[in-house]
Amino acid sequence: MRLVVTGGAGYIGSHMCKLLSEAGHQVCVVDNLSTGHREAVQWGELEVGDIRDADFLRSVFGRFSPEGVLHFAAKSQVAESVQEPADYYDNNVVGALTLLDQVRRQAGCVFVFSSTAAVFGVPQTELIDEQHPRNPINAYGATKLAIERVLENYAIAYGLRSISFRYFNAAGADPSGLIGEAHEPETHLVPKILMSALTQGEPMRVFGEDCDTPDGTCVRDYVHVNDLGLAHLKGLEFLQKAEGAHFYNLGNGAGFSVMEILAASEAVIGRAIAREICARRAGDPARLVADATRARKDLGWVPSYPNIAGIIGSAWAWHSQRRF
Ligand code: UFG
Repeated sequence: MRLVVTGGAGYIGSHMCKLLSEAGHQVCVVDNLSTGHREAVQWGELEVGDIRDADFLRSVFGRFSPEGVLHFAAKSQVAESVQEPADYYDNNVVGALTLLDQVRRQAGCVFVFSSTAAVFGVPQTELIDEQHPRNPINAYGATKLAIERVLENYAIAYGLRSISFRYFNAAGADPSGLIGEAHEPETHLVPKILMSALTQGEPMRVFGEDCDTPDGTCVRDYVHVNDLGLAHLKGLEFLQKAEGAHFYNLGNGAGFSVMEILAASEAVIGRAIAREICARRAGDPARLVADATRARKDLGWVPSYPNIAGIIGSAWAWHSQRRF
């Protein structure tokens, strides 16, 4: 297929481009390079521009005639979204609406949307499935939910076929060592632990040990970035037959606390990691773990990195020999 990948210079988007290209698809990356890296675009062509720029999108769509769009371009930091909600609504909602204007004019074009566990807000059940109420507690989750609703409406009104994938905690890197997680600044747990081990600088800050979890630190469901990509490949096949707007939660269904991730990282890298306990981070739910049964059943999605050591090991291989 001819596929536009917005945000293809970013962490998850660049891994997606590699998998798409290996599967024989033709890729056009659309990225404004605000947080992505030109060096990460190694599969497919790059069009530098902003998804809020309708003229730019029109020219890309006119030239490339995509049969599908995978939309990764977004602002994605929860804490920042609480402080700068206007930026989040502009990039994530206005941007996605501008993009969708092109998508729905492109006959037969399907849409795959990067959504998030943050659409659910505070979990009411131990495992979060697709039936769980969507009550985001921050602007980031609210912007992603807004687009999920748009996709439901567009399926009915315009016949747009789409899948929204709600990622839990993406981690790890491609085994080639060519690409990996490279945020600036980095806020995510796994890369921060590994970077702190490499620099032997400041101790790792653990945000809170008074949560309602077995060891008091927050529990998350870590899923390998290429397993997220694999779900998208399966999703593209599924959309060839399925009409409507579809929603899938993507995680391994296993929760690990911050302390457990520290211990697993120490085991992978073979050295102790200094840490200090700090206050809880505002807006962090105690526990977020997916029930991904629906993706396994409908899409035949079987993650190839079900173990946390394998996920952290792949991230460590990247961070210890980082190319950008
Ligand atoms: N944490 C620390 N110290 C750090 C960084 C993180 O203790 O230096 C803790 C956090 O408090 C949290 C856990 O490690 O409990 C994981 O934090 P991340 O920042 O790696 O990930 P989040 O769970 O906050 O964020 C993820 C996705 C978001 C999504 C969110 C849903 O990255 O896109 O889950 O709540 F919105």
